[in-house]
Amino acid sequence: MFQTAPIEAASQSELTSQIAARLHTALTTHLQQAYAPDQRKNLRLFSATETADLLGVTGQFLRKCHSDGSLPEPEVIKNGRRFYSGEEILQARHFLEASSRKPGKYLPGRREGDKLQVIQLMNFKGGSAKSTSAIHLCHYLALNGYRVLAIDLDPQGSLTGFCGIQTELEFEGASIYDALRYDDPVPMSEAIVETYFPGLHLTPARLVLSEFETETAVNAGRGVAFFEKLSLAIQSVEGDYDVVVIDSPPALGFLTLTGLYAATSVIVPMTPSMLDLASTQQFVEMTSAYLGVIEDTGVKLDHDFFSFLITRDDPSDIPSQQIVSLMRALFQDRVVGATGLRSTAIGDASMLKMSIYEVARSEMTRSTYDRAKNSMDAVGAEIAGMLQQAWGR
Ligand SMILES: Nc1ncnc2c1ncn2[C@@H]1O[C@H](COP(=O)(O)OP(=O)(O)OP(=O)(O)O)[C@@H](O)[C@H]1O
Ligand SMILES: [Mg+2]
Repeated sequence: MFQTAPIEAASQSELTSQIAARLHTALTTHLQQAYAPDQRKNLRLFSATETADLLGVTGQFLRKCHSDGSLPEPEVIKNGRRFYSGEEILQARHFLEASSRKPGKYLPGRREGDKLQVIQLMNFKGGSAKSTSAIHLCHYLALNGYRVLAIDLDPQGSLTGFCGIQTELEFEGASIYDALRYDDPVPMSEAIVETYFPGLHLTPARLVLSEFETETAVNAGRGVAFFEKLSLAIQSVEGDYDVVVIDSPPALGFLTLTGLYAATSVIVPMTPSMLDLASTQQFVEMTSAYLGVIEDTGVKLDHDFFSFLITRDDPSDIPSQQIVSLMRALFQDRVVGATGLRSTAIGDASMLKMSIYEVARSEMTRSTYDRAKNSMDAVGAEIAGMLQQAWGR
């Protein structure tokens, strides 16, 4: 059971240390309950309807592929109904792509000569749904046949948690800090882990990542420029992925900047409120100043797209809709057309460190689930379209 007695401490450091310890116990207990009995996350199975939708085929076509032997049967068939694992869906993509007349229909990722796409989600406003948007984008892209690397550049490790690694519990492996650190860095490939989600790999973050900020200040002017570090790390594994999705901390420090330099595209998630609008304005102004400093070193930065994404959107809230309209009037197609709708379904899923894609429709009120999933799908599809456009398709 949790300790609930009032905290008594002789100093402020002891007080904060006790608060941290109490929170740590509560968190680990919550996580152990959420992931019991083996404390690992697993991806649920997908119904035949969901699988056909993901593959972009009809249920009838899917059944025909099983009966003519062009697709192996899934392992789980209950009461005559087929259920597919993430691996089986990915395997189906490979089978179908091999016999498809339209290249890229089932595996829409890079083709020869296409450059790796690196999308950074950034905004220094805390809580603008960077991590929530990042995990939904990663899951959407992976489920749709892209090879995705998620990079957690936030020492808070939210994206890492969503990917099933609880740094609060046991986690011994290398993290992004180890690939970026100044002293004896490890190759990026050693800092990447496979996740339980097929098609999605992760470079996790731990709290120690915040050291990158101080180490960069100390090492200024020595060796490789700090802003090149992530880009070089990504280059060393670039052939393994179609898309890299970077989640950033709510700050415009060296971590966010090394991400910005590595990025081929930028998405600024923004909740439509007046405070967030003001904060986003300051953020973009500061970004411009920092980009100028980087460009003054003779580097040319080129982003395929720099777009705003409206998050926690509530169409029934009039003041927020005025801000959405203002953003669209100011920036037209630089604002992603679809929005991340504010939804209890997303909030509830995130309590368990899950995206909406990990929750089965039967576990929630159907209309709530459908609204949330349709909104995340629409955002994912639009960003996938932007990737395709960057590849000239
Ligand atoms: N569409 C949504 N509907 C409901 N709640 C949401 C939605 N998107 C995000 N949230 C909630 O908003 C909170 C902040 O989201 P999130 O952690 O993604 O923001 P962030 O920008 O990554 O925060 P930080 O700046 O701390 O990194 C979380 O509690 C999350 O569950
Ligand atoms: Mg975050």
